[in-house]
Amino acid sequence: MWTCERVAGAELDVEEVLALYRASTLAERRPVADVERFARMLAGANLVVVAREEDGRLIGISRAITDGAYATYLSDLAVDASHQGRGVGRDLVRATGEAAPQATLILLAAPAAVDYYPHIGFTRHDSAWTLQGPSDPEARPSHEPPSPANAPRPTRG
Ligand SMILES: CC(C)(COP(=O)(O)OP(=O)(O)OC[C@H]1O[C@@H](n2cnc3c(N)ncnc32)[C@H](O)[C@@H]1OP(=O)(O)O)[C@@H](O)C(=O)NCCC(=O)NCCS
Repeated sequence: MWTCERVAGAELDVEEVLALYRASTLAERRPVADVERFARMLAGANLVVVAREEDGRLIGISRAITDGAYATYLSDLAVDASHQGRGVGRDLVRATGEAAPQATLILLAAPAAVDYYPHIGFTRHDSAWTLQGPSDPEARPSHEPPSPANAPRPTRG
């Protein structure tokens, strides 16, 4: 069995979290090769929940940013592939929501998870928009496959 706990992202072991991103496959869609930037992603997120096995093994993470009152942006949800399908992701989302119960959870689904979020209660929003940072050093893969006609600037998911 696992437990979910809110933690300070800055206090996490960056290499341990990197290993989880790789084990979940989310590493394919995040700038994991830039460890300094990845460490800032952890430290800058003010609502981080981790799932650990009884022996302390890190098996899941929810990395979000919240104002605590209105909006929570859930940027990364990752569960070790060896533990997927057991309810860990649902538990992480529940704990993230409970940490800021008046706030709406907002996210961009990765392609492999587009059917996941409606399954656990999310509602699709047809007016979500993104604008890539002017100094983003990486052209990240889009949450939707880019096409030459409509995706000159990739977005994240
Ligand atoms: C997506 C992810 C976080 C889901 O976590 P999980 O712990 O495997 O999911 P859960 O066990 O909580 O699943 C809850 C329910 O959703 C279903 N489900 C799980 N993954 C699903 C998927 N990709 N699509 C549709 N349904 C899914 C489960 O079957 C379960 O259904 P049930 O309650 O009817 O039994 C996890 O698979 C993962 O880390 N994937 C790779 C990284 C990724 O794509 N993250 C999302 C970034 S936006």
